[in-house]
Amino acid sequence: MITHIVGNRPQFIKLAALYRELDKEGYEQNIIHSGQHYDENMSDVFFQELQIPAPCVNLAAGGGSHAQVTAKAMVGIEEELLRIKPRLVVLYGDTNTTLAGAVVAAKLCIPIAHVEAGPRVGHKSNPEECNRIATDHLSDVLFSPDQISMDNLRREGLEDRAFMTGDIMFDTYLAIAGQSAEEKAQEEPIVMTWHRQENTADRTRMESILRLVERLGDRVICPMHPRTRKCLQDYGLWERAQAVSNLDITDPIGYVEMVKLMQSAKLILTDSGGVSKESSFAGAKCLFMLDMDIWGDLARVDWLHKVDPQSEESVADALRFASQAQRVAIEKRPKFYGDGHAAAKMVQALRERNFI
Ligand code: UD1
Ligand code: UDP
Repeated sequence: MITHIVGNRPQFIKLAALYRELDKEGYEQNIIHSGQHYDENMSDVFFQELQIPAPCVNLAAGGGSHAQVTAKAMVGIEEELLRIKPRLVVLYGDTNTTLAGAVVAAKLCIPIAHVEAGPRVGHKSNPEECNRIATDHLSDVLFSPDQISMDNLRREGLEDRAFMTGDIMFDTYLAIAGQSAEEKAQEEPIVMTWHRQENTADRTRMESILRLVERLGDRVICPMHPRTRKCLQDYGLWERAQAVSNLDITDPIGYVEMVKLMQSAKLILTDSGGVSKESSFAGAKCLFMLDMDIWGDLARVDWLHKVDPQSEESVADALRFASQAQRVAIEKRPKFYGDGHAAAKMVQALRERNFI
């Protein structure tokens, strides 16, 4: 049995491609859902749209502090892994669910494969950095989305277990985007996502993000993560957000709708690791609202441009970048994240190393 451990929106999107590939090859698999994300539009919708089988268990670990979520997930994962006794555990990305899975599986001496291994931002104030480093070092086989991640793993002495497969999110993106031709949209809005702790833990920071949106002027469509909505409400900023006349806030949307929206965007404004990378798949440049260099190649070719909403100079610079943004034809988009066949390469590597 191969057991996938997931719990967050981007993990369902990554899981879809690898599950399908392993299934095609006849491997027996099941899924542990930590429950870190639990709203219908943060979880169920992805299982339905991407045709992922139902998890064998949902641990309901969501909705607490880092330690609460991680600890609850660990206790549940341990019980399940002792029952299932898988030959391999597969972990995805860098969330608290990933960390919980890594610590438990490693101590039960179950081999671990880590999908999206190697990205680094260089500082522990980014909570995901702690999860990434610990998970990579506890895993037995590492799948990197890009060359920079491979180089990071090499620097940390993990080269012998690392494979450069490309980004599995590109596999899922192509599976969905390939279902319909990319049509010219009637409107080319700015598409925004906003949820990271660094951008929601402080009222002044949130206010400055709303001001940035206002100053962009064009229509901004923001499917809003529940954390962000809650923080705006808690800080008494919800009315302020609704008064930003060019900002359309919606509930989180499914992946099919999200792909369509990104394909219509003239610019993407985000603090999401996944969305900032997907901007290059979908043909819209990216204003990135975090001070971290996670997709260095996109920054190098000026596809991804960092903005600090609290710095006047940085905002002025971002407004210049935004004013020049326009949709980019498929053949001119950067191609740093593989060929859309990451899942097949992962299965091949797992076989080569006798993990499956
Ligand atoms: C988590 C990950 C982050 C990832 C993101 C993907 C960690 C440390 N962070 O951040 O790396 O980018 O998932 O989206 O694991 N909430 C709901 N309903 C839900 C999910 C969350 O209401 O379905 C609210 C709850 O108030 C919850 C808060 O959002 O406490 C934060 O959720 P959490 O999973 O802890 O962090 P994310 O911001 O989603
Ligand atoms: N996404 C989605 N609906 C939304 C917002 C995001 O389907 O309303 C997708 C997005 O296209 C990407 C993934 O969710 O594939 C990214 O998840 P998120 O931004 O929550 O996490 P991160 O990538 O920052 O860890």
